[in-house]
Amino acid sequence: QAPTSYYYTMPEEARLLIRKRNRHANKGTFGHALLLAGSYGKVGAAVLAAKACLRSGVGLLTVQTPLCGYSVIQTAVPEAMCLPDTHPYVLTGHTEVDNLPPNNYAAIGIGPGIGKAPETLAMLRDILTTIRKPMVIDADALNLLAANRDLLGLLPERSILTPHPKEFERLTQRWQNDYDKLEILQDFARRFRIVVVLKGAHTAIATPEGDIHFNSTGNPGLSTGGTGDVLTGVLTALLAQGYDPVEAAVLGVFSHGLAGDHAADARGQIGMVASDVIDSLRWEN
Ligand code: APR
Ligand code: MG
Repeated sequence: QAPTSYYYTMPEEARLLIRKRNRHANKGTFGHALLLAGSYGKVGAAVLAAKACLRSGVGLLTVQTPLCGYSVIQTAVPEAMCLPDTHPYVLTGHTEVDNLPPNNYAAIGIGPGIGKAPETLAMLRDILTTIRKPMVIDADALNLLAANRDLLGLLPERSILTPHPKEFERLTQRWQNDYDKLEILQDFARRFRIVVVLKGAHTAIATPEGDIHFNSTGNPGLSTGGTGDVLTGVLTALLAQGYDPVEAAVLGVFSHGLAGDHAADARGQIGMVASDVIDSLRWEN
């Protein structure tokens, strides 16, 4: 096994990763993303992820939510298309509206606010058996994976998983202290050939090769509901634009943290909310 390389993402490197837009580009150039998010009482998570995705350069966005989220999305995020699920409260993956086959989307992000209903688990299983390109997996989608471990083997190679420490503990089922956490993280990313973004004050990104990238941006103002949903939107947008998953994770986590720092400058760490992080996203190269 190759020895691990450790990296620390500096502003100049992150900036170099940002692609310039071709003068002759059109929205097709930047991909059509699908976000599977929201459930009764948690449609806000879908709104935050969708707005962040649009603020991160995606060409087109479709949000699939339960029926109860339909007018919420159409009103709060007019730039996005909304694909209503037939179920009133939870995602099942069934729609009555004509729909692109899931494999036709440039990228898929799944998890924010979806809950853990059996119908939603069935949908996740379906998606994982159908989709053969890297996707972003967050929040309750991770908890469903942790509770149904056979699904881990279905993860498309180089998918990005974004657990916070509790979700990570459920996924890896291993007791943790700060000493062996990095090793568990590396093992997990290598074993399933995925990118794992272990979120926190110093977010650590493990690559399928077992390397680790530490992030340098962000602040405790980000410890507020919804900032994780924002990150999922950012990462889904980068995958849709064709960024390699490791680059997407390194750049996305950096830019999300930087937006958090700008939001803290404007509102203070105590006053800032997840929507301020979205408004503070800036992509400059
Ligand atoms: N310093 C820097 N960054 C931080 C800090 C900190 N002290 N605290 C949190 N963050 C960042 C994390 O790195 C991550 O990007 O804020 C984000 C928090 O993400 P989540 O923990 O996923 O929080 P969020 O998604 O908003 O929580 C809403 O979703 O995942 C579920 O269980 C979660 O119920 C919760 C819900
Ligand atoms: Mg979260």
